[in-house]
Amino acid sequence: MSLLEVKNLGVRFATHDAMVHAVNGVSFSLERGQTLGIVGESGSGKSQTVLAVMGLLAKNGEATGEVLYQGRDLLTMPARELNGIRGDRLSMIFQDPMTSLNPYLTIERQMSEVLELHKGMSRRDAKKRSIELLDAVRIPDAARRVGMYPHEFSGGMRQRVMIAMALLCEPEILIADEPTTALDVTVQAQILNLLRDLQRDFGTAIVMITHDLGVVAGLCDQVMVMYGGRVMEFGSADELFYRPSHPYTVGLLGALPRLDHDGAELISIPGNPPNLANMPRGCPFSERCSMASERCHREVPALEASECDPTVLRACFRPAAEVIPAVREEVVHG
Ligand SMILES: Nc1ncnc2c1ncn2[C@@H]1O[C@H](COP(=O)(O)OP(=O)(O)O)[C@@H](O)[C@H]1O
Ligand SMILES: [Mg+2]
Repeated sequence: MSLLEVKNLGVRFATHDAMVHAVNGVSFSLERGQTLGIVGESGSGKSQTVLAVMGLLAKNGEATGEVLYQGRDLLTMPARELNGIRGDRLSMIFQDPMTSLNPYLTIERQMSEVLELHKGMSRRDAKKRSIELLDAVRIPDAARRVGMYPHEFSGGMRQRVMIAMALLCEPEILIADEPTTALDVTVQAQILNLLRDLQRDFGTAIVMITHDLGVVAGLCDQVMVMYGGRVMEFGSADELFYRPSHPYTVGLLGALPRLDHDGAELISIPGNPPNLANMPRGCPFSERCSMASERCHREVPALEASECDPTVLRACFRPAAEVIPAVREEVVHG
């Protein structure tokens, strides 16, 4: 049994003028100690996918499908049982640390409360454990800093505190939603290294959301590429990086800085992500896709095993064999 199995997950929001289908038919499974990357431009449905898994959708949102944690469905579980798992076995770090840190409490208070609640620890043991974790995320002088308030930390240090908080109960699954986007490149690299070390030491499975394919390169085993609330391509990080077979993945890779040129040049996909309240009839990417045919504008392609590599799933009417050589061509002549 997989640690986490998401089956046919859907998220829809009731709004004034329309039902917004933010996530459609998303399925994946996560094994112990494994890292799944979810990538895609802003508005693709990445955050809503994991918020649905955590049972943290906005009030006007509703999740359908199944989210099986050790075989039990989190979506239909009583709130009390879910609260026991969330924050304990399953925890999340957000892009903005201030969404999960309380500005009015010292770090010690915030960390101890979690340990007292979930682990029944004494105040003294909880403080000791909190310091150990701040050490683990390499916060210098942790024994002193544990008594400080969130605003007394720099952005990067705050992000580390939040990671330490998320790891308090040694979760089996850590969900990180763009944990480094707001940080400068050096601190980003440090935090990613830290997550990699923690995974090695604690065996935590990680779901890592980012809009930057470069960030997942060294960290993820599997990558799920989302666009317009759907999965476009899913496969091992190696396959998707070296042989992307969906035009959207190709576009995202093109949006990475090209280091083979003089200086770094940003090449992005022309156009903007679609408005979810007013989706194109066919493939969500069809309007921006240079390879789209008439059928792509009419029908939504199913997510199916690639004919070039059955471990890769792709939702595209164009055969993978047509897309992959096109990429090679661009890399050689681009
Ligand atoms: N509370 C809400 N009500 C209506 N629509 C929402 C709500 N929350 C999110 N959405 C819709 O879901 C889309 C996907 O959001 P999200 O998952 O946050 O994208 P991202 O891939 O950038 O994380 C948003 O663009 C928005 O249209
Ligand atoms: Mg998001």
